[in-house]
Amino acid sequence: MSKGTMLSGMRPTGSLHLGNYFGALENWVRLQDEYDCFYFIADWHALTTGYEDTSDIKSNIDNMVIDWLSSGLDPEKCTMFLQSSVKEHAELHLLFSMSTPLSWLYRCPTYKDQLSQLKEKNITTYGFLGYPCLQAADILMYKADAVPVGEDQVPHVELTREIARRFNHLFEEVFPEPESKLTKAKVLPGTDGRKMSKSYNNTIALSDDPETVRKKVMTMVTDPARIRKDDPGHPEVCTVFAFHKVFNEEGVDEIGSLCRSGSIGCVQCKKILASKMAETLTPIYEKRQGLLERPAYIREVIESGNERARNIAQKTMSDVRKAMKIDW
Ligand code: TRP
Ligand code: SF4
Repeated sequence: MSKGTMLSGMRPTGSLHLGNYFGALENWVRLQDEYDCFYFIADWHALTTGYEDTSDIKSNIDNMVIDWLSSGLDPEKCTMFLQSSVKEHAELHLLFSMSTPLSWLYRCPTYKDQLSQLKEKNITTYGFLGYPCLQAADILMYKADAVPVGEDQVPHVELTREIARRFNHLFEEVFPEPESKLTKAKVLPGTDGRKMSKSYNNTIALSDDPETVRKKVMTMVTDPARIRKDDPGHPEVCTVFAFHKVFNEEGVDEIGSLCRSGSIGCVQCKKILASKMAETLTPIYEKRQGLLERPAYIREVIESGNERARNIAQKTMSDVRKAMKIDW
């Protein structure tokens, strides 16, 4: 039996942090052994909210590929490509835009949320409204069975199903309806205890060197009720403890009871965490250092991914044009 097809994308908006790693990338790495996976850099999608200043986009793309490869995505196992290099995505987006009712796009929760959150960036644009329509083109182009995404993207996959259904109904049965594949993401707060986010300046980047990571750990907020080392602590409210859950699975219960009984100090607890994090992150960091010396290899990975993606995309577009009778 052939493996199912998975597809997912990320916008190249800057270096990935540990929240992105545990929220998505770690899963992607695991899935590449189980499915036929397509992972792509959604640079056109990045333009929908960042069209005014494109000065960082190239370096963001390169850095993202380096983040991917250093985390373990393997070009022998999965196809990594750049959205803007496979022009068929633009054509399919255009064709879908003809039959997608505006009401579907207006009611999309991400549309409303982003409009109110990004007030300062004029995103009342045609392209931004059509964001999910472009995403549908990305997904359906490869006839993906499933799309590994976070909760926030589920409405987009739902809309993709509707777009597929409408196409199949109007023309011919060309597209399968993809499912969202939600994975239990491990949640990491930022170093200050809020959600990890670049806008809060509380992230640990995948590209941070081991010494920077250690320093960031030492500044993390802990249980504010602990003044003295032997005060009983409340690990459930502590950021350091949230990190132990992810990086120190085998030791986390012991840390919890030592904290509650006031028999471990926060400094020592952080040192243990820092060394556990180094076990996971140092190999990723070292791999990155190797990749930084091979820019030609990075290009090659994406170019050969583009080639593979394009072959499939061309085939899909020929079916689409035939079905729509615009293959004159
Ligand atoms: N919208 C996705 C995000 O912001 C990125 C994306 C674009 C995507 N096209 C996709 C994800 C297709 C999955 C499938 O995270
Ligand atoms: Fe947090 Fe560890 Fe301090 Fe407890 S001992 S409050 S878990 S840092």
